[in-house]
Amino acid sequence: MDSRIATAARVAQIAPFHVMEVQTAARALEAAGRSVVHMEIGEPDFPTPQPVIAAAQRAIAAGDLYYTSALGIAPLREAIARHYADHYGVAVAPERIVVTAGSSAALLLVLALVVDRDDRILMADPNYPCNRHFVRVLEGEPVGIPVGPDTRYQLTAELVAANWTPGTRGALIASPSNPTGTTVPREELRRIADAVRERNGHLIVDEIYLGLTYGETPRSVLDFAADAFVISSFSKYFNMTGWRLGWLVAPERYVRDIEKLAQNLYISPASPSQRAAIACFAPETLAILEQRRLAFQARRDFLVPALRDLGFRIPVMPTGGFFVYADCSKWSSDSERFCADVLQNSGVAFTPGIDFGVHRATEHVRLAYTVEQAKLADGVERLDHYLRK
Ligand SMILES: Cc1ncc(COP(=O)(O)O)c(C=O)c1O
Repeated sequence: MDSRIATAARVAQIAPFHVMEVQTAARALEAAGRSVVHMEIGEPDFPTPQPVIAAAQRAIAAGDLYYTSALGIAPLREAIARHYADHYGVAVAPERIVVTAGSSAALLLVLALVVDRDDRILMADPNYPCNRHFVRVLEGEPVGIPVGPDTRYQLTAELVAANWTPGTRGALIASPSNPTGTTVPREELRRIADAVRERNGHLIVDEIYLGLTYGETPRSVLDFAADAFVISSFSKYFNMTGWRLGWLVAPERYVRDIEKLAQNLYISPASPSQRAAIACFAPETLAILEQRRLAFQARRDFLVPALRDLGFRIPVMPTGGFFVYADCSKWSSDSERFCADVLQNSGVAFTPGIDFGVHRATEHVRLAYTVEQAKLADGVERLDHYLRK
């Protein structure tokens, strides 16, 4: 007899992160004495900036480490609002900013706010894997719309219109995107916002990688769509993944309901992390972060041509984040097998496309430039050696 007592059916529809399996295999190789170039990891290799650590130490020493408001502490909400004004030229009232336990919690809150059972949420395929799982947990239907290089791997207003049905509640976009690093052009985003609004839907835009934009002026959707929900985080641009802190910008009329959800789901974001994060916006921290952004850009500028030269197809230059989404069909149409083979034979770890959806997922891999340039160069050399054989 099976000793397991039944669990909810929805759990069967939640897939694990394949990237974690790649990482486990990579660590096993390292434990056996092999060296590995890690290009599977979706977090910055840079440590949290020192002024932020110092602010956390001061906060912990002061001992004010109780629950906070579910919406976050006022000085942090105000600092985030000022950041929108200074960096993106958009006025956002602090009352519209909800500090969350990572942008993961922000995504969960906004989806819990808008998704009822069987409601459809449109999203690009490929996209960040948790999105479809969040919608499933809420018993909605994630609708992955196949996208390719012709639309910069992003949704368009036409795709939104063509896939909208009476049961569709909204569209979720990430710009820049994980795994493709591509942005939605500003005019297209405006057209998407119009298309969603005309259909009485909700537009959710994940701007977690907006601070890491290269060669274009980063623009928030809030610039022209005050009715959009915007997701962001301290994890990526601010190098604070483990502090579990993000935020959501919501139209003011929804903030009270979001507060209720946050109170019930996790009470409040972590208190020391919030106090530390205020230091993110100090000029000395922003100067450190700008240097690091430029370092990411230099890595991208090295890696993309080098991968193309090896035979990976990368039709659209990524302009944000720290990922390259590359077509590996020259060698394999089984990206999982390909990643495992390359790891075993060359000691370079990256992620199979199957983590991010189903559309041509077996012919793509995601490489992260979250290691220093010398290691990237080593990785490219190893790939050259193995793949050109
Ligand atoms: C597109 C995107 N959104 C959200 C997240 C969640 O990040 P966090 O919860 O650390 O803010 C990630 C993490 O990789 C991501 O890539």
